[in-house]
Amino acid sequence: MSRSPIDGGVVVVTGASSGIGADIARQLAERAQVVVVVARRLHRLEALAEALSGSTAQIDVRALDLTDDAACGSLIEHVTAAHGRVDVLVNNAGMGDFGLLESADANKIRWMIQVNVMAVTRLTQAVLPQMVARGSGGILNISSGFGVNFMPGFAAYVGTKHFVTGLTESLRTEVAGTGIRVVQVCPGPVATEFEAGVESPLDRSLPGWVEQSSAACASAAIAALDRNRALTVPGVVGWLLVHLGWWSPRMLTRGVLSLLGRLLRRELMQRRQR
Ligand SMILES: NC(=O)c1ccc[n+]([C@@H]2O[C@H](COP(=O)([O-])OP(=O)(O)OC[C@H]3O[C@@H](n4cnc5c(N)ncnc54)[C@H](OP(=O)(O)O)[C@@H]3O)[C@@H](O)[C@H]2O)c1
Repeated sequence: MSRSPIDGGVVVVTGASSGIGADIARQLAERAQVVVVVARRLHRLEALAEALSGSTAQIDVRALDLTDDAACGSLIEHVTAAHGRVDVLVNNAGMGDFGLLESADANKIRWMIQVNVMAVTRLTQAVLPQMVARGSGGILNISSGFGVNFMPGFAAYVGTKHFVTGLTESLRTEVAGTGIRVVQVCPGPVATEFEAGVESPLDRSLPGWVEQSSAACASAAIAALDRNRALTVPGVVGWLLVHLGWWSPRMLTRGVLSLLGRLLRRELMQRRQR
């Protein structure tokens, strides 16, 4: 297999201010020439750049909001102008939402689609021409176990992640033979700030043993790109959940999840009345 595009490369990581993205940036800083870290929280990105100042890579901080289509559109242009090329794009930034779709905040749904769907598409489209021209490059998309399964209470989030999964699988076939790697990672529960941004379906956090560490998830994601693996499900719990969904007959999954949906609706209605 050819050399990984990470080594000595210019790498862009979205959502690098926390969680999986921050750990991907930390780990890539030991191998890449430049790591461009992207997110809204500038202070977090600057703290990360400071912590990585002793690493082999140059850390380039780009604070921007991925719901801003114009900012998204010019990011790759600016990075290419500054560093000559983009070798790897890591589409990691994402947000979630939980609840019944009928009562969801329409703005939050729109932002989620902009970050999880539009920004992923826009950035990917922007890096492809130079990668095709060079005959090399890598696109690493962080989807979710919900990108291959479905779940009541997360309808819009599941929809965005199915988009990422479909886009990634299809694009991988579209660039076959060009030298570009397109891979995705579909994690189960990972211990990050993500959970805090999503109202919990339970009245408590997930038990620690259920969640994978973001560092372990990041190294599985990087290994997936190194090995050019189409779809990776890191972590034991994530693997079991995804494979349970894959191996179960659709009718059975629909029945079980419909039952769960009824219970969830009842619980959420009761919560609203309290
Ligand atoms: N944690 C899990 O259980 C889990 C499971 C499966 C898949 N995932 C996926 O993993 C990815 C990373 O999530 P995480 O768990 O590491 O969560 P996290 O710690 O909340 O990180 C999310 C990252 O996305 C960035 N982001 C969100 N909205 C943005 C916006 N409008 N513009 C720019 N950046 C934005 C955040 O930065 P700022 O807030 O600074 O902008 C942050 O760096 C997501 O795509 C998520 O869907 C997570």
